Amino acid sequence: MNVWNDVDSYVSDLMVGHELDFVLRASESAGLPSIAVSPPQGKWLNLLARSMRATRILEIGTLGGYSTIWLARALPADGRLVTLEYEPKHAEVAGANLVRAGVADVVEIRVGAALDTWPEGEVFDLVFIDADKETYPAYFERTLDVVRPGSLIVADNVVRDGEVLSASTSDIRVQGVQRMNEMMAASPRVDATVIQTVGLKGYDGFAVAIVVE
Ligand code: SAH
Ligand code: DHB
Ligand code: MG
Repeated sequence: MNVWNDVDSYVSDLMVGHELDFVLRASESAGLPSIAVSPPQGKWLNLLARSMRATRILEIGTLGGYSTIWLARALPADGRLVTLEYEPKHAEVAGANLVRAGVADVVEIRVGAALDTWPEGEVFDLVFIDADKETYPAYFERTLDVVRPGSLIVADNVVRDGEVLSASTSDIRVQGVQRMNEMMAASPRVDATVIQTVGLKGYDGFAVAIVVE
């Protein structure tokens, strides 16, 4: 919808700014898919991290580092962000973008399948799940090993044009999101909701969960 894009542009011009647009341009020039969070969503992740004074952040799915950089900019100088990326090419583009954005010293990119590079024995304040959707249930389960009460878990792309409602879907990505949402709802360790979104990225949504025990 044109008006959704126009409102995202309005918000970007008014409140988000264009300082990080170079990350999206560089990622696109390098041939990466245009599936990063939108600028208003990137700023929103930054505000969430700052509001909880996050010092340790874990991200699953780096792509060109756009969401990574928004999150890293919320960290204090001694903060740390670990981001997990399967594709070496994406990690390389992200690495260059992190340097240009001045956050390379607080970010560690681990290359490989996220379940194989998972940071064991660390505790994170904020976890952003945004990699392959079919593996969301496993990511949520592993996330519960590396959080503490008060940590926040955010997962992207959990509405997908309303496909999340399809009881008969054969799409394993939709099934993955459905199962993760059900796990979040059933887990006594988190209290969660889903916020639907519209804008540059179409109609989609974020699951947001706070760890309670
Ligand atoms: N968070 C990024 C977008 C991530 S797109 C942003 O908003 O800017 C999803 C990314 O997950 C892609 O780069 C893809 O290569 C990566 N990915 C897919 N499967 C993965 C896996 N098993 N482990 C780690 N990363 C994976
Ligand atoms: C797509 C969008 C995303 O935000 C993502 O993380 C993965 C895929 C997509 O539009 O295909
Ligand atoms: Mg996404």
